[in-house]
Amino acid sequence: MFKMIVLYSIVSALFIHGSSAKVAPSYIKTCPGLKSDCLKKTIEDTLPHFAKGIPELGIAPIDPLAEDHVKLILPGGFKVELHNGTMTGLRKCDIESVSYANNEANMLMHCNLTIKGVYKASGRILIVSINGDGDAKIKIKKLKLVAKIKFQDKERDGVIYHEAKDLKIEHEYGDKVIFSLTNLFQGNPELSEAVLQFLNQNWKQIAEEFGQPLVDRLVSIVSKIITKFFTVVPKDELFVD
Ligand SMILES: *[C@@H]1O[C@H](CO)[C@@H](O)[C@H](O)[C@H]1NC(C)=O
Ligand SMILES: *[C@@H]1O[C@H](CO)[C@@H](O)[C@H](O)[C@H]1NC(C)=O
Repeated sequence: MFKMIVLYSIVSALFIHGSSAKVAPSYIKTCPGLKSDCLKKTIEDTLPHFAKGIPELGIAPIDPLAEDHVKLILPGGFKVELHNGTMTGLRKCDIESVSYANNEANMLMHCNLTIKGVYKASGRILIVSINGDGDAKIKIKKLKLVAKIKFQDKERDGVIYHEAKDLKIEHEYGDKVIFSLTNLFQGNPELSEAVLQFLNQNWKQIAEEFGQPLVDRLVSIVSKIITKFFTVVPKDELFVD
């Protein structure tokens, strides 16, 4: 009898150890059958946690997303530098729909995003000249994001991973983009204010004609973080038939 108990304890200890040796954090739940409703709910529940990053897996936060220094040349030769940049809001995105079929996931969401930093900029935007440096805050209201991820199984050390081999994120501006930028025209507060008003009145055209390099930069950072996640978490912890 005693032997049986010892044996039982060893087996259950092994079993419990085995089943808890998961790579993914415990807040990540699976969706048997990968049904859309479950996926939507799971992603809604997971996003606020995932957004903070998973340091033990080397996965950086996406909210806040920090970039010490970004230097961009926008269409028309307009130069912008952003120091100590942060973007917040991804953790609160509204997930509208998610689907998964034939190794491809599609997700539609709306996000309110805020970018902040210390900027330096010079050049022409549409009809105005800018030559300034100061504080920058850009609020993007109800940005529509459509993400498409193609997956592919990869086996490493006997473990199967469902890796993101192709990730595309398309965007469409929604309600508004609000620029709050100080000192757009160095040493001239009246002109700075007039230029800022112009930017805000023409936010849609400005975002569409000049925003692409910034969006590309953000998409590339977020894509890398998502790709990394699927590279380190085994398939069977995420995908259940
Ligand atoms: C960025 O932040 C660091 C640390 O808070 C600060 O020392 C530095 O002056 C900041 N850079 C700019 C351009 O404001
Ligand atoms: C975005 O902000 C608007 C109000 O400005 C709010 O109605 C909406 O629920 C917000 N959406 C998200 C995804 O936070």
